[in-house]
Parts: sequence; C-alpha cells; structure tokens
Amino acid sequence: MISALTTSAEQDPRLGEPIPADLLDEGERRTRDELQEVQLTRLKATLRHAYENVELYRKKFDEAGVGPGDCRSLEDLARFPFTTKADLRDTYPFGMFAVPMSDVRRVHASSGTTGRPTVVGYTENDLSMWADVVARSIRAAGGRPGHKVHISYGYGLFTGGLGAHYGAERAGCTVIPASGGMTARQVQLIQDFRPEIIMVTPSYMLALLDEFERQGVDPRTSSLKVGLFGAEPWTEAMRQEIEQRADIHAVDIYGLSEVIGPGVAQECVETKDGLHVWEDHFYPEVVDPATDEIQRPGDSGELVFTSLTKEALPIIRYRTRDLTRLLPGTARPAFRRIDKITGRCDDMIILRGVNVFPTQIEEIVLRTHDVSPHFQVELSQRGRLDHMTVRVEARLDVGPSQRAAAARTIAHGVKDVVGVTVEVLVVEPNALERSVGKLQRVKDLRET
Ligand code: DLL
Repeated sequence: MISALTTSAEQDPRLGEPIPADLLDEGERRTRDELQEVQLTRLKATLRHAYENVELYRKKFDEAGVGPGDCRSLEDLARFPFTTKADLRDTYPFGMFAVPMSDVRRVHASSGTTGRPTVVGYTENDLSMWADVVARSIRAAGGRPGHKVHISYGYGLFTGGLGAHYGAERAGCTVIPASGGMTARQVQLIQDFRPEIIMVTPSYMLALLDEFERQGVDPRTSSLKVGLFGAEPWTEAMRQEIEQRADIHAVDIYGLSEVIGPGVAQECVETKDGLHVWEDHFYPEVVDPATDEIQRPGDSGELVFTSLTKEALPIIRYRTRDLTRLLPGTARPAFRRIDKITGRCDDMIILRGVNVFPTQIEEIVLRTHDVSPHFQVELSQRGRLDHMTVRVEARLDVGPSQRAAAARTIAHGVKDVVGVTVEVLVVEPNALERSVGKLQRVKDLRET
C-alpha cells in the first residue's frame, strides 16, 4: 500500500484526496463555458500577434488564404496552417520570435537528433505563466507549500530542470536543484535532505532505485511520496513498477519546448487517469497524422498545440508528433485530458511492415519474471530482412535456465501482442547503458 503523504509542512494533505478548493488557482475555477470564452479571446489575439510579428506566419497564412480576422470561433482554428519542427529549424535561431530580442529574458533549445537544435524564447510574462502552470501541475500531483522538491531533470538548455525549478518555487516548495547525473550522490541527497517530491525522467528514476538498492537502502523507506515523471513515454506497467519499488505515487507530466516546456499537461494524483491539458494556455487538437483531418474526441492521432498566451514564441497548430487522444476532464472537469502518450510518429518502428512501439515492448518486459525493466531495442539488417533484437537485463542471481525462459516469454509476448518475431537476449545485470536525461530506447543500425 502507498502511504498517505506526511510532511513537516504546515499543510499536510492526504494524498489521493481531491485538492481543496482554496488551492485551485483562478484559471482552474472557470467552468468549461467560461474557459472556452477565454480561449477564443486569447486565440484571436495570438493569431493576430503571430501574423503581425513573425514573417513565417504571415507568409503561411497568406498562402493559405486566411487572416487573423477569419477566426470567429474555436473551430475556425482548423482553417489555419500547421507549424512543424522544420519551420523552427529553417528560421534558426530566433526567426520565429514575435518580440524584440531585448524583451526576451531566456532561451532554451531542444537538441533534436539531427542537424540544428530548435531554439525557443520567453518574455518575462512567458516565464511567469510557465512557473504558474508547473506550480499548478505540482499541486495536482499532491505538492503543497513547504514540501521539498528534488529535481533531477537536467538543468541547462533542456527545459526540464529550470522549468520544474521555477514552478516548484512558485508552488511555495523548497527546491533541491540536483540536475542529472552523479547517481550515488543523488541518493545520498535524498536520504539527507528528505524531499517529499521528485521530478525526473522515469528511466532515470529506475537508475536511482537501483542505486538505492546497491547502497543497501530500501527505497520504500525514503522520504519520497510523489514523483512527477515525464520527458519520455512510459507505460502503466512502469507506473506500477516504480510505485511498488519506491512506495510513492507516480504521476505523469507532459510538455515540449516549442509549446513551453514541462507543464503543458499533468495527471492528477487522485485519479491517475491521463493528463489534464492546461487549456487556458495551450489549445489541443488531435489530427490524423496521414490525412491531417481533425479526429473525433476519443480517437487517437497526433497531438497539435496552439499557444494562447505566449508572447515571445506564439506557436500555431504545432505538430508534436506525439500520439494520443483527447478525453473529457475528470478531476479538473473544465480541462480536457490526453491519454498517456503511447509514442511518437517518428518513434514508431516499422518492422517488416508491422508498426511497433517501444512502449508495447516495455509492457511485455515489465510483466516478465526474472528480468529488470532495463531494455534496449536494436534494429539491423540480416540479408534483405529487417531484424529486431531486444536486449534486456536479468535480475540479480537469475541463472541460465530462468534467463532462457524469460527470453522465450518476451519473444512470445511480442509475437502475440505486436505480431512480429524478434530476437530476445537476456544480458547480465547492469550490462546496458543507463540514460541520465532522455532515454534512447531504439538503436537503428539499418542502412537508410
Ligand atoms: O521533454 C519537456 C519536459 C521536461 C516534459 C520534463 C516533462 C518533464 P522536449 O525536450 O522539447 O521537452 O521534448 C518534448 O518529449 O514531444 C514528447 O515526445 C516527449 N515527452 C515529454 N513529456 C512526455 C510524457 C520536454 N509525459 C517531447 N510522456 C514530447 C511521453 C513525453 N512523452
């Protein structure tokens, strides 16, 4: 059982219970109708701001034959052109900024796997709004003023560290800015400083849990009560693994640099049923990635965002490449939810014509005995055929026959669930490289 959150903080919420009404911010108190009214006003202003101040938007709108005046309802947004990562790359570094550089207080950049990074910028108001949405996310996860927040997202150009940092401060928490790396020291810090909350990628959380155990400390005895995990896809099976090993609540936080950073959407701890999109600042749509058609509510597709309040980098119909679906709100009824992200359009492995997502393999690995949750997928070519190898670490003290059985179980699982034949190698504990920041699950050695 996961214990209730206890803390020396003045307010001592019982985790798992709904947030008290007085802790909701102004934006969270709106009804859906009020929210939609605010959205439309902000959308019109954003389209005008983008059109008037960013050459790329002006060109794209003109080419599509639409102008800011054509938006009279939220549905009209569908008439406007999409924005892609390529647009940001083509205007590198600051070409999509809509304010003079002297009004830009900070930049971040996302590395991208090839070529130039994409650069994003923030005015003072943007930074304040970002802190607000991350603070709201931390409260939704059960964080309260007076809690200590250990932040292991990387600090620097990546939005994870600094985004979480200012949000936690805004929420009235005490920040421990650990950043990524030096795993043994992180575990020491957690034991000494006794934070209630941790913010980290789920894959690095696993590395921290391993390190606890290596040091002979049961992570269930740590002070941690809640983790906000994001920046990469993770599954329900991974949630259970982390919750059980650490005796904490594991909730999902989503975001992307182009839209703001972490804090675009957040799972509420009392329901753990997908992530509420903070729609008063980020307007979501889901489209069919092949046809660009808007999907009906509940149907899966590619998530698209339009910012509603950003000044430095207004973003119109940005194609995230992330796959999910839109659902009605629950714990925050005015805000729609997104399902856990199952993967990215560009993460999808096409193996001999079959679509495979690393998250499908994760679920199978996590339900298999005698192997750890650490695995890697390698794609290669054998003759003319694509070949997929899944390397997964054995748990400590697991002998050859159990390893062979685990390999067979995983291979059968993948065949059953996904429909492809893969080679599974159960390797030594700690044989696979650990990620400190974002996890790179798939190595593609195929010639393109
Ligand atoms: O990863 C921002 C972030 C930092 C989010 C810390 C949450 C926590 P980027 O580096 O621009 O920004 O990467 C954005 O990461 O399009 C998704 O593919 C993926 N991603 C982020 N959060 C999640 C999540 C940050 N909760 C890209 N689940 C996004 C699945 C996620 N994927």
